[in-house]
Amino acid sequence: MAKIHRLILNPPILNSSSFFSSSREQLKELFGSVYTGGVTVRTATIGGFPEDTLSIHKHAIAPGNASINSYGYSPIPLSQYLEWIREFLADSSTSTKPFIISIAPASTEELSETLKLIQTLRKDLKDNESDFSRIGIELNTSCPNITGHAPPAYSPEALKPLLQVLKESYAEDPTLTIGLKLAPFVHAGQFKGVVDLLGSISSEGEQGTKSNCISFLSCTNTLGSSVLFTEQTISPEAEASSVFAVPTVTGGLAGEPIHALALGNVYSFKKLLSEHPDPSLQRIVLIGIGGVSSKEAVKRMRRVGASVVECATALGIHGVGIFKELNEGL
Ligand SMILES: Cc1cc2nc3c(=O)[nH]c(=O)nc-3n(C[C@H](O)[C@H](O)[C@H](O)COP(=O)(O)O)c2cc1C
Repeated sequence: MAKIHRLILNPPILNSSSFFSSSREQLKELFGSVYTGGVTVRTATIGGFPEDTLSIHKHAIAPGNASINSYGYSPIPLSQYLEWIREFLADSSTSTKPFIISIAPASTEELSETLKLIQTLRKDLKDNESDFSRIGIELNTSCPNITGHAPPAYSPEALKPLLQVLKESYAEDPTLTIGLKLAPFVHAGQFKGVVDLLGSISSEGEQGTKSNCISFLSCTNTLGSSVLFTEQTISPEAEASSVFAVPTVTGGLAGEPIHALALGNVYSFKKLLSEHPDPSLQRIVLIGIGGVSSKEAVKRMRRVGASVVECATALGIHGVGIFKELNEGL
């Protein structure tokens, strides 16, 4: 079991936000599994993402538990996800299992609007009143496939105004559990940049106690600008004529090819956060994501400092049954 602020994840294994947690059926199946400690919803926006699955947005699976994708966010609008979550939670009122709603607003104004919609549902469900919450938020700062919009995770200047909005929202309602989905980083300065920024938004309470609006970091998202040829993938017949695995040529690489990098990201954040003088940063929980497709990978993620482990590619390949095996790594 892992506790992230007010979320109880039991077991501490679940899906990460992806195409495979997009539809009502997928979410229901994930929520119904005894081997998942929660459900992370595919990244949703207020208006729904203009998806074109014919000529732009696709994914392909490659041998060795690997994938590449060119998706943006979910075409299903946030309001629909909120309705489904309301229904699922009402149907299992005694469960502690939470939904983590992944969001990716295009501006600070849209972020405020998005938070308002989620908070309205939480208040309706009295999620802010009981001892634990069944709804949390993950700000996706790291999708590499949005044309004209660099992932804010790579730029502390772009992240800062978003964090400021989260801080204000948390100050109004400290029962809100908020996390950041980060991009794969490749050098020490990038980890320090994020940790310094988190340190700069800590608040000091009356007795000098520090608090931070960010309760967890999810490391990592896909590795952008990657290329796989169709011949390297196990793609559907119809696409065998395309040279590249995704129509955009470059896309986000995931699965076992990024496992070592994901382990390094969790390790680096764990070290910086646990050694940080600010106790509110020491309390930030790490969710390890990237190439987790076996119980051994779950063990490795936990050895480098992840309290919770998630997967997307393995879920896409093996279905919800994969979580039974992953639980053996706990
Ligand atoms: C097809 C596909 C779609 C994805 N969509 C999202 C998304 O909507 N939001 C998000 O935060 N991450 C998304 N991801 C990234 C995953 O959550 C995860 O961070 C990444 O794939 C690494 O984990 P894995 O190796 O288990 O796949 C997606 C990944 C895949 C493979």
